[in-house]
Amino acid sequence: MIIVGGSSSRDLAKELSNILGCTFIQAATTRFPDGECYTRIDTESLNDDVVIVQNTYPDSNMIEMFLLQDAVKKMGARRITLVIPYFGYARQDRVFRPGEPESAKVMINHLGMMCDRVFTVDIHKESVLEHFGCPYKDLKAAPAIAEHFKNRSIELVLSPDLGAKDRAKAVGEKIGVSYDHLEKIRLSGSEVRISPAQMDCKGKNILIVDDMISTGGTIVAAKQALKEAGARNISVACTHGIFVNNALERLTGSALDAVLCCNTLENEVSHISVAGIIANALKEKW
Ligand code: R5P
Repeated sequence: MIIVGGSSSRDLAKELSNILGCTFIQAATTRFPDGECYTRIDTESLNDDVVIVQNTYPDSNMIEMFLLQDAVKKMGARRITLVIPYFGYARQDRVFRPGEPESAKVMINHLGMMCDRVFTVDIHKESVLEHFGCPYKDLKAAPAIAEHFKNRSIELVLSPDLGAKDRAKAVGEKIGVSYDHLEKIRLSGSEVRISPAQMDCKGKNILIVDDMISTGGTIVAAKQALKEAGARNISVACTHGIFVNNALERLTGSALDAVLCCNTLENEVSHISVAGIIANALKEKW
């Protein structure tokens, strides 16, 4: 097996190859003066199973993924596995209003043209993966998040909404503490309202878990509700730290005790590694 790292996932791809003890090649990706992507895999041949590790967010990384798929195919890859740690476009999984595209399906139709297997991590809508015409699996980051927080005196794990309650359950059960969910109503792309917390938060050390932090609006509202309910410490962990518009600064500057995310998107707080979880999946027979 040969691991090819795209430009979005350099550290994660390297870590994967270290765990698996297999060859690692970093794609040499640059931009032409007009911004178009140029990439090259500098090796004689890829006559083996090849794993490409690359996000499909932002759009420029999707283009790089398409080019890498073609490059590895031309270099003789026997079977191509895509590891897409953060799959962009998964939230646009259907036509919400007439005239819109089914964006997730469009992306998958193109990605699926040159691959034999796909792994994602905590994709927002798992059902979109059905559009791949090959084996796929969405891997869960909850065990890695729980492992990170297991000795940090967490007393309650909460998700910001009902949709993420299974994540809170998975992390809570693994740490061995209780879990629950808050109630969220989305008001706009960046604004949400979280109802007053109904569970007992008084004096507690709470961990909020979510699949992604984008604008940070959800976490700010959740923190507010928990503070009003008397929480002592509030930490936050998500799988994908997107952090648009200075969201990370906004969160670290607020009264949160920790803001952490997994290394599906590499940034200054992506200290929770999902490499072990992906490596185990890659070792499975197929
Ligand atoms: C929503 O369903 C997701 O699980 C996240 O809670 C949401 O995308 C976070 O977005 P933001 O940080 O912009 O509130």
